[in-house]
Amino acid sequence: DIHRASTFAPVNIAVIKYWGKRDTKLNLPTNSSLSVTLSQDDLRTHTTASCSLSFTKDTLTLNGEDQDISGARTQACFKELRKLRRSVEAEDTSAAKLSAMGLRIVSENNFPTAAGLASSAAGFAALVRSIANLYALPSTPTELSRIARQGSGSACRSLFGGYAGWHQGSQNDGSDSVAYEVAPASHWPDMRALILVASAEKKGVSSTAGMQQTVATSALFQRRVEVIVPERMAAMEKAVKEKDFAAFAQLTTRDSNSFHACCADTDPPIFYMNDTSRAAVRMCEAINAQAGSTICAYTFDAGPNAVIYYLAANEATVAGTFKALLGTKTGWESEKGKAVEAAQE
Ligand code: DP6
Repeated sequence: DIHRASTFAPVNIAVIKYWGKRDTKLNLPTNSSLSVTLSQDDLRTHTTASCSLSFTKDTLTLNGEDQDISGARTQACFKELRKLRRSVEAEDTSAAKLSAMGLRIVSENNFPTAAGLASSAAGFAALVRSIANLYALPSTPTELSRIARQGSGSACRSLFGGYAGWHQGSQNDGSDSVAYEVAPASHWPDMRALILVASAEKKGVSSTAGMQQTVATSALFQRRVEVIVPERMAAMEKAVKEKDFAAFAQLTTRDSNSFHACCADTDPPIFYMNDTSRAAVRMCEAINAQAGSTICAYTFDAGPNAVIYYLAANEATVAGTFKALLGTKTGWESEKGKAVEAAQE
């Protein structure tokens, strides 16, 4: 007897960045953050969770390859979900004892790992929701976000579609460090994201390690978490609610630059953006100057790839200009540099 459940979880790209933890075990952040969820048609993880008495141990495969699940993060997710299942089984004694069975998790990403996208967010969100579905847990997305956050911080935001926030919270046990919906995708459906893949450069410093070095050494970081981000979170929620693209774009680019400035202020400094990344920044500025208004925004995570946000009405101008650059001598790799377009659902 095999029990089975499947789910999808989308990739999210932060416009107010999570960078820094106050608790590295529970992934409790030093500041709140906000992201835009990309369309599931384009960028997502599909995960099937199954369990059976015949499964002697827990296993996880990603794109057909066995993954090490002994790490504390995956174990924390399994443990929390089994605990919730046990309370379901305690209440309903006729319920099958799924919590005692081995779990088999099979995940597929529909985007190339080479794209350098933070797949851990969609990955942990899909892992947690597929098991919650398998266990028929009554949990809300908020509760599942609390569990996914322990897998990878940014994963908590992928439990929500559209525009998702993550409260930093103040409790030591992380109970109030959860994601929430700022607005559904349907609220502002003409938002578009274009992902530009810079030359396939291996990530030097992982986000997990990099943010801890920043917390430990950057003075600029203090200002960021205490003053800059709280103000920007409020302004960003307002910009999304009012569908004010110019404000959204200003906040997005400035927060990306603030995050990368904190990286440069880390000792030793961390550089995620390269010359190609900076060329995309200049191109974005040139497009806005030419248009006479702010019609595109850029943001960079812990790597050189750019995510460009714009509205559908400006597709030809923004995406057209960037796509014309791909494969030319600008440094965007012609092969892997194929633009992945991610329109919202
Ligand atoms: C720059 O969520 O990957 O993408 O919690 O250690 O797994 P861990 O870190 P992770 O960090 C993401 C950092 C970021 C910004 C963001 O997504 O908010």
